[in-house]
Amino acid sequence: MRLRFVTGNEGKVREAREYFDGIAEIEQVSFDYTEVQADSIEEIAARGAREAFASLDGDDPVFVEDSGLAIDALSGFPGPYSAYVEDTLGIERVWSLAADEENRRARFRSVIAYASGDRSDPDVETFTGSVAGTLVSPRGDGGFGYDPIFAYNGTTMAEMGTEEKNAISHRGRAFAAFAEWLSQI
Ligand code: IMP
Repeated sequence: MRLRFVTGNEGKVREAREYFDGIAEIEQVSFDYTEVQADSIEEIAARGAREAFASLDGDDPVFVEDSGLAIDALSGFPGPYSAYVEDTLGIERVWSLAADEENRRARFRSVIAYASGDRSDPDVETFTGSVAGTLVSPRGDGGFGYDPIFAYNGTTMAEMGTEEKNAISHRGRAFAAFAEWLSQI
C-alpha cells in the first residue's frame, strides 16, 4: 500500500516511515493546504486532507497530520499557535515561561486526517493521539520542535530514538489508530 503524507516536516516523515515500515510505503508530498480557523483541529485536518487530495495529481490516498502542545499552567498555550510560537519565541523561551510555574505538566495532541476514494467526493477519516508529560530544561539532540523540552517518564523526546518516541508519542498513538483502521479495510 502506498500512502502520500502531505507535510514539509522531515521529522514527521521519519516517524511515519519508521512506524509504517512493512505496512505501507510513505511518500512525502509538499502541498500548502489552508489552515482555516475552525472549531476543532479534526476539522482543520479533515479539510486539509480533502483539499490536498482534490488538488494533487494521482489517486493514491493522502493523509495530513496536525499537532500542538498545551501547557496546563498556561491554560493550554500555545495550543493551535504551537508552530507560530516555536518560530517566534523559540522553545527555550517556552521553557522559561513554564519554569516559573509549579505545575509543569503539558500535553501533545495529534490529529491525522486520511482522504481516499473519489477525489471530488472523498472519504475522510480522522485519528487522534495524545501524550501527557512534563516540561524540562532542553535536553537531547534527536526529534524536532519541542522535543528537547518535553519529558515522558524522565526522558525528553529528543533523547529517544524514533521507534522509542513512536511508542509513546501523540503521533505514534495516532499512527497506531490509523494503522489499526487500515488493517481492517
Ligand atoms: P504542526 O502540526 O506541524 O503545525 O506542528 C505544530 C507545532 O508543534 C510545531 O511547532 C512543531 O514543531 C510542534 N510539534 C509537532 N509535533 C511535535 C513533536 O512530535 N515533537 C515536538 N514538537 C512537535
